Amino acid sequence: MRAVVLVGGFGTRLRPLTNSIPKPMLPVGQVPIIERLVENLARGGVTEVTLALGFRPEPFVAAFPDGECAGVAMRYAVEPEPLDTAGAIRFAAATAGIDDTFVVANGDVLTDLDVGGLVAFHRAKAAEATIHLIAVPDPSAFGVVALQDDGRVERFVEKPAPGTEPSNLINAGTYVLEPSVLARIPAGQRVSIERATFPAVAGDGGLFAMATEDYWLDTGRPELYLAANLDIVRGLRRHDRCVAIAPGAQVAADALVADSVVGAGAVVGAGASVARSVLLPGAVVGDRAQVADSVVMGRIGDGADVRDCVLGADGSVGPGERAEGEKRPDPDAT
Ligand code: GDD
Ligand code: MG
Repeated sequence: MRAVVLVGGFGTRLRPLTNSIPKPMLPVGQVPIIERLVENLARGGVTEVTLALGFRPEPFVAAFPDGECAGVAMRYAVEPEPLDTAGAIRFAAATAGIDDTFVVANGDVLTDLDVGGLVAFHRAKAAEATIHLIAVPDPSAFGVVALQDDGRVERFVEKPAPGTEPSNLINAGTYVLEPSVLARIPAGQRVSIERATFPAVAGDGGLFAMATEDYWLDTGRPELYLAANLDIVRGLRRHDRCVAIAPGAQVAADALVADSVVGAGAVVGAGASVARSVLLPGAVVGDRAQVADSVVMGRIGDGADVRDCVLGADGSVGPGERAEGEKRPDPDAT
């Protein structure tokens, strides 16, 4: 089975982390998001993945130079300009020569979904397109469906106004599609699968959906990116584990590191403490500094106190300085 993975977004909500690394290449539990995602597709029977890239293919090509990731053959489809989700799927499918039932995944979603089970459901329903669903308390930030008892989707609404959602079942970002869906997407144009294609397929009665209670998280916001890391180190994923402190990290013998992920090359100084945080490769935490509930790529000076912060590769907190609830460098500064 072949798959298209959408990785062409700008990762705007994860800035400043995504200033230096595209969102799918950010590590979650020491391993890039894309690799964890492809591993799960492979478990479900996917043997070839085409990455639908909108820009900057270099970091991906460099990370998987042999054209392979988690035992799966990797291809790259680089759009001449961002084509939005459906446009990107059409472009990538054409690049890969896809002409049979295939899988699509949003590149920022981590899930333990049994993808083979979703494909079996799709075939049993003779669906044109099938969506994986997850129930969430606040669905308005997602695609939301109205579902019939047999799993047929009556209506698909992308990001409905709060209070108008037809259910609490959201599009979890893994699809099984027939090639006929591609024929519905005009070539070379910006088209959203959520706003144009799914509503059209639903209107023709061919859109189905399967809800599961698997682990599921969209890593697209800093607090969720942090949560994704902590979930893995806490052992909350069915297949995925990680070492909390990478062998290549330099952590002082008397530093306290609790409930955190420390990447290779990160440095934690003498007497420092780190809690519920992610230190990415290259992060530096000075002597006696305190870091909590933060994601750090940059430098934290000696004796600093950092809470609830996101520091990009160029972000820093000076010696003795306190920072709370900040992003540095400020992604909104012009
Ligand atoms: N190649 C390419 N080109 N990829 C794109 C483009 C594009 O123009 N635009 C977006 N993508 C990719 C993003 O990189 C991401 O992996 C995926 O498409 C979805 O885009 P997001 O920007 O992350 O969308 P979202 O999180 O707001 O909403 C989507 O995911 C939700 C579940 O997490 C939608 O599919 C919702 O319906 C869904 O509920
Ligand atoms: Mg997303």
